[in-house]
Amino acid sequence: MMNLAVFASGTGSNFDAVMNAIENGNLDARVSLLVSDRIDAGVIEKAQKRHVDTVVFNPKSFVNKEAFERALLADCKDRGVEWIILAGYMRLIGPTLLTAYEDRIVNIHPSLLPAFPGKDAIGQAFEKKVKITGVTVHFVDDGMDTGPIIDQEAVRIEAQDRKEDVERKIQAVEHVLYPRVIQSLKAKEESK
Ligand code: GAR
Repeated sequence: MMNLAVFASGTGSNFDAVMNAIENGNLDARVSLLVSDRIDAGVIEKAQKRHVDTVVFNPKSFVNKEAFERALLADCKDRGVEWIILAGYMRLIGPTLLTAYEDRIVNIHPSLLPAFPGKDAIGQAFEKKVKITGVTVHFVDDGMDTGPIIDQEAVRIEAQDRKEDVERKIQAVEHVLYPRVIQSLKAKEESK
């Protein structure tokens, strides 16, 4: 069974999708920790409802990224966390966590990378009037959405779609793709 920490800054629909996949037996894992860098993030209540340990921190109350990542690393190690799953965590990961969890930090991003990295990827795709966008799951490196791609799925933007329609379609894809990719990571690692 994989021991996961989920890092999230937002509403937590991907966190819920991972938890549902575990409950339904589609993902052989447990989530030992939910980390959020925003005290007002919706994901915190979702984690508490599910009795998942939560660590909420304010980056501004630390001298720098290294200091808060060292604290987060201790939180992860205390719980035997093996993989860090970024689910809408809107912050670059620094060397402290990248070194400790080499090739064991994954991210989901709402575009077909390398197109539209960074913030508001759905808005960027919508503005550019592309007809196909999608979802990418990738290993995290020190860049902004630049690490090796693990899997992707396309989403078509229809002429009549509003931005909210695209968001809904992207999220529906994310909620199936992310648990499936996480489940595949263990097998991938074992076959290395
Ligand atoms: C998701 O769409 C995820 O792909 C995106 O944040 C959203 C979080 O939603 N992540 C990024 O943009 C990372 N660059 P959620 O809080 O409902 O899971």
